[in-house]
Amino acid sequence: MYLRRLTLDQFRTYERLDLELPQVGLRISGRNASGKTSILEALVMLSTTRSPRAAADREVVRWQSGDDYGVRPYARIEASVELRDGPKRVGLNLELDADRRAVIRKQFLLGSEQVRAHDLVGAVKCVLFSPEDVLLVSGAPSERRRQIDILISQFDRVYLRALSQYGRVLAQRNQLLKRFARERRAARDPGAVNEVSFWDEEIVAAGAVVMAHRHLVVERISELVSARSADLVAGAAIGFEYLPRLDVPEGRLGTNRDENRGHFAAIFQAAVEQARPEEFRRGMTIVGPHRDDFKFLIAQRDLASYGSRGQQRLGMVAYRLAEIDIIDEQSGERPILLLDDVLSELDSVHRDMLLSAVAGCGCQILVTSTDPITLDHPVLHTLPAAYIEDGMAAVKIDM
Ligand SMILES: Nc1ncnc2c1ncn2[C@@H]1O[C@H](COP(=O)(O)OP(=O)(O)O)[C@@H](O)[C@H]1O
Ligand SMILES: [Mg+2]
Repeated sequence: MYLRRLTLDQFRTYERLDLELPQVGLRISGRNASGKTSILEALVMLSTTRSPRAAADREVVRWQSGDDYGVRPYARIEASVELRDGPKRVGLNLELDADRRAVIRKQFLLGSEQVRAHDLVGAVKCVLFSPEDVLLVSGAPSERRRQIDILISQFDRVYLRALSQYGRVLAQRNQLLKRFARERRAARDPGAVNEVSFWDEEIVAAGAVVMAHRHLVVERISELVSARSADLVAGAAIGFEYLPRLDVPEGRLGTNRDENRGHFAAIFQAAVEQARPEEFRRGMTIVGPHRDDFKFLIAQRDLASYGSRGQQRLGMVAYRLAEIDIIDEQSGERPILLLDDVLSELDSVHRDMLLSAVAGCGCQILVTSTDPITLDHPVLHTLPAAYIEDGMAAVKIDM
């Protein structure tokens, strides 16, 4: 897929931006804080409904929005993308209350219709390479879970539904457990157990789907990460592994997702019962996929602890390349590649490595840098260059 046109209205520093893009992509340069990342951020928001960097949606609404026209502050993103089966329009609107404290409306548009968030997710598929990718290796488990969730959600609707169901059930169950902890209810109290068992069933059902899907997707990603890392550096074998929070007996899981779901459900149910006293005491759910982790391996050891910086970087790049592969495999669409400021911090060897790998993907590439020189690489020469200035309305592209 590729992006033909992107329009931003009251988004971040842009009062308005109209950007027409060629199929190969674009090299975007501009000084610091000129609005380069904001362009890529808008695309990721269309893809996932959330910003990859903002803690709250309201942050992306232009500060001056609403001042000029006597309307509530708002931001709009609209894109025309070309898919395998034709063009599609995709949009996202945000509206804040007059004090800018809260989002009072968040709308998703697909074609000419208003849709739910779920239906928008994955309509635009992209893979973002950013300086924060180091968190994939060395960051908290929550960051890795977020990345895996975003990836799988782009091509797996069942997963996306189970994941949001799991989130809702988890919140409800935690509320109940919190009350039990406050009231010092005993884990053997039949009334309490009866009350929580409804939520046990719900959380086990949704959680088993989440884990079964994660398991098989990560098995495939692991193969792709190994293949990609070996392509990038001869002899390098980087692995990637799913670490469910539950103890899954060796050899229990196979290649059938439904059977695996049954195994996960049984294991999860047993773990929930075993954790009962501690959950009642602490007032929260302590087992389940909201505690899962994922690990990079080098020679069967933890890459975060034993890998050199170069090897860790290789792991991150191989993982992003594996994302391209798996999105393509699962959906038949090549994602749009967003390279945000990643070239300047690489040495020339790693830069060549990354660029030749992405150049071979046949994807549209949007690459940014403060320094046009870093974008002056043979692999990027087919990409027209654009120079961004603070708050500009239209981008002049040197073809
Ligand atoms: N909601 C907002 N309204 C207006 N300006 C914003 C908003 N959020 C961030 N900015 C400004 O946008 C600029 C950052 O844009 P960014 O896309 O990160 O730039 P770059 O990637 O080129 O360094 C900064 O000048 C910042 O102050
Ligand atoms: Mg930036």
